[in-house]
Amino acid sequence: METKLLKPNEESINLACELLKKGEVVAVPTETVYGLAGDATNGNAIKKIFEAKGRPADNPLIVHIASIEMLDGIVSKFNADAKKLAENFWPGPLTIIMPKGNKVCKETTAGLDSVGVRMPANEIAREIILRSGVPFSAPSANISGKPSPTTAQDVFADMNGKINLIIDGGESDAGVESTVISVLEDTPIILRPGIVTKEDIEKVLNKEIKVAKEVTEGVKADSIVRSPGMKYKHYAPNAKVTIVKGSLENFVKFVELNKKENTLVMCFDGEEKLMPVSAISYGNINDPKSQAHNLFAVLRELDKENAKQVFVRCPETTGVSLAVYNRLIRSAGFNIIEV
Ligand code: TXA
Ligand code: MG
Repeated sequence: METKLLKPNEESINLACELLKKGEVVAVPTETVYGLAGDATNGNAIKKIFEAKGRPADNPLIVHIASIEMLDGIVSKFNADAKKLAENFWPGPLTIIMPKGNKVCKETTAGLDSVGVRMPANEIAREIILRSGVPFSAPSANISGKPSPTTAQDVFADMNGKINLIIDGGESDAGVESTVISVLEDTPIILRPGIVTKEDIEKVLNKEIKVAKEVTEGVKADSIVRSPGMKYKHYAPNAKVTIVKGSLENFVKFVELNKKENTLVMCFDGEEKLMPVSAISYGNINDPKSQAHNLFAVLRELDKENAKQVFVRCPETTGVSLAVYNRLIRSAGFNIIEV
């Protein structure tokens, strides 16, 4: 199959809409990362997404809508917490897990009776949903296990020959996937951290919420977790990645002692010149949004640099930093040390 890579315009957007309506798969930009979109109501379309990604069949997809009216049939219940969250954070990078409606095919939810829904803010994604009328399911448009794509070129590297069309909407804004929150129980719980933080959500709901322990801990492959996506090794470059907690001074000493051929460092802006090996910054130490924005691009860069061993300066674990930390520990296969 030839994979077209097209800039967004009248013609390419219409083509994307036609393909979606026919049950084909299209890669679209969103404000978080690029998504691999297929009609959420069409089991055959969704099977193609799982195939293209090589995604385990027990890992459910998120449904993307462009208006509140579209929730009809997508969810069977839109409770008070969900309404407040939607009013405050949609369109935007927040996915809300709610009871599944009967329009959504079982392939989308991997057989679960709940469904994750979000309304993306990206204008191209919105336009495609509105024009086609298709609520689309979309996981990140990477091969399962690889870093999520933040450019159309990243998508092309993983999906060339596997899908018909990629719409090139430029670099993703956020750089990490949406915050996933379940409102199935009285106390909402964050299953995946993102740019919308626990603190942001608590302010809006006016109550304390929980964060699933899997967000900051490793999960065994055979365990049952609330968010199946959290049990898989993720975002992993070819190199062995180690997160190194501790002061900058101790970090530098540690690298000096443990460096080999093809060792690289992921550090913060301005620290590169202090490192005894080649170093790539993934953002400003005081600006977690910049770290989130750059993270996946830098993880992909490691492969291009042919890194074999990578030491990473550890981010904070509060606010937006929690999203960065959560992705990093997965890319490191939970390999974290303290110096
Ligand atoms: O920002 C995003 O959310 C991107 C863009 C494309 O919108 N999409 C994305 O999808 O990150 P994906 O498939 O890579 O991640 C979906 C996550 C997985 O961890 C999955 O397990 C969880 O959401 N999820 C989806 N439906 C769920 C459900 N019903 N219950 C619990 N977790 C669910
Ligand atoms: Mg993903």
